[in-house]
Amino acid sequence: ETVKQALRRLCAWYQQGHRDLPWRRTQDPYAVWISEIMLQQTRVQAVIPYYERFMRALPTVQALAEVPEEQLLKLWEGLGYYSRARNLQKAARTVCAEFDGRMPRDRDALLTLSGIGAYTAGAVASIAGGQCCPAVDGNVLRVLSRLFARDWDITSQKVKQLAEQELQPAMPCACPGDCNQALMELGAMICVPNGAPDCAHCPLADLCEAQKTHRQLDFPVKKPK
Ligand code: ADE
Repeated sequence: ETVKQALRRLCAWYQQGHRDLPWRRTQDPYAVWISEIMLQQTRVQAVIPYYERFMRALPTVQALAEVPEEQLLKLWEGLGYYSRARNLQKAARTVCAEFDGRMPRDRDALLTLSGIGAYTAGAVASIAGGQCCPAVDGNVLRVLSRLFARDWDITSQKVKQLAEQELQPAMPCACPGDCNQALMELGAMICVPNGAPDCAHCPLADLCEAQKTHRQLDFPVKKPK
């Protein structure tokens, strides 16, 4: 149905051309994990130099497990939310102790690690592991709330689970990583959070409930505090 069709089209759109970002040149689950954690609270353009420096300094999960905390926090300086860096090291130590030093690519295994929730596990498992699972963050929820004209509170955990349940069976299993990154790409380049979305260039425009009724700016619905 519509979700399947939308995802298939998005995948093709993404494969035709997308931003060449450093973490998109690798299928190493360690590298993908680091990038996804950095991208959680920080914009793509700001992340790039941090990511490159971090991967040069700590190219493996072993290096991260063993780095002195002071040096780790220095690499993180400027990104903020230092608990992210501490969780990274905690998870790296678990990988060394319990996964034979190999960063897992499996969603369920990833979920056992510190600082890895449904979004990060889905992103790493799909991008680095080819597993057919969604990766739903706030940007993806915005895109979906417009596509289906849903009055979702996109900050709600329940809504996030609802979206995961809707996406899961519709994921194209030939290219789940591209599919998830296509949703992120659409949210970053076309279906933007501030200002008017660029519907003229959206591959999903004719499927989009919000666009059909000219209510793009009414979604996502802002719940009164
Ligand atoms: N934001 C979160 N994950 C991303 C990714 N893999 N590419 C671009 N932006 C992102």
